[in-house]
Amino acid sequence: MRVVMMGPPGAGKGTQARLLQDALGVPQISTGDMLREAQHNGSTLGQAARRYMGAGELVPDEVVIGLVEERLAAADCAKGFILDGFPRTVPQARTLHDLLAARQSPLNAVVAVEVPESELIRRLSGRLVCRLCGAMFHRELNPPMAAGRCDRCGDELYQREDDQADRIAVRLALYAREMAPLEAFYRATGLLRPVPGTGTRDDVFGRIRASLA
Ligand code: AP5
Ligand code: MG
Repeated sequence: MRVVMMGPPGAGKGTQARLLQDALGVPQISTGDMLREAQHNGSTLGQAARRYMGAGELVPDEVVIGLVEERLAAADCAKGFILDGFPRTVPQARTLHDLLAARQSPLNAVVAVEVPESELIRRLSGRLVCRLCGAMFHRELNPPMAAGRCDRCGDELYQREDDQADRIAVRLALYAREMAPLEAFYRATGLLRPVPGTGTRDDVFGRIRASLA
């Protein structure tokens, strides 16, 4: 199955894409995670991406498209994938469409997770991420068992640089601007599946599964 997970910062794309990855047996591909890994490794691409990501702005289309094209060519994507945070602009969506059309393997669905802005701010400002395995926690909503340590692998939890209040505001404003044309693009294809993203993680997952049935 080939699925795109769309939604504002903090909507739960990563949380839900990881659950879907386990349920469907196809990889989660998060452009945000790939770009953060490139920064961590100190690659030229990572250094170029840092100033955009640190400010909460979008990385240029050609950089992100190149990363995704390379990733989708890997063997583990042959049976499908869950794209998390890509596409984010209409040019990215057009390129993805052309790429998949050339392979005769079009998207099956585009899940748009919807969450009110006040809840997004609450989720982002308390989020903690594991440096090693990427598992997500929240200071109040989903605290780790031992402070500052991942329940799954024991590594250190950190706060993302772009989860500071001023950066959150930039990201939400950018999302509001970029998403209307992208949603219109996918609505026209008949692939768009809007899903309310409030309630527990499992509530949301149940709705997403139902939207894909
Ligand atoms: P990216 O990493 O994709 O960030 P984002 O879109 O801002 O989304 P987030 O990862 O912040 O949120 P999420 O929806 O995954 O929520 P999560 O599951 O973590 O991108 C980062 C940056 O990279 C961009 O700003 C840009 O610079 C660049 N970039 C990436 N892709 C790009 C592209 N295609 N083009 C250009 N630039 C690109 O959940 C959030 C919190 O809520 C967690 O603490 C979680 O535990 C909690 N939570 C989740 N679900 C629930 C629930 N049901 N109830 C309560 N709490 C919940
Ligand atoms: Mg994410």
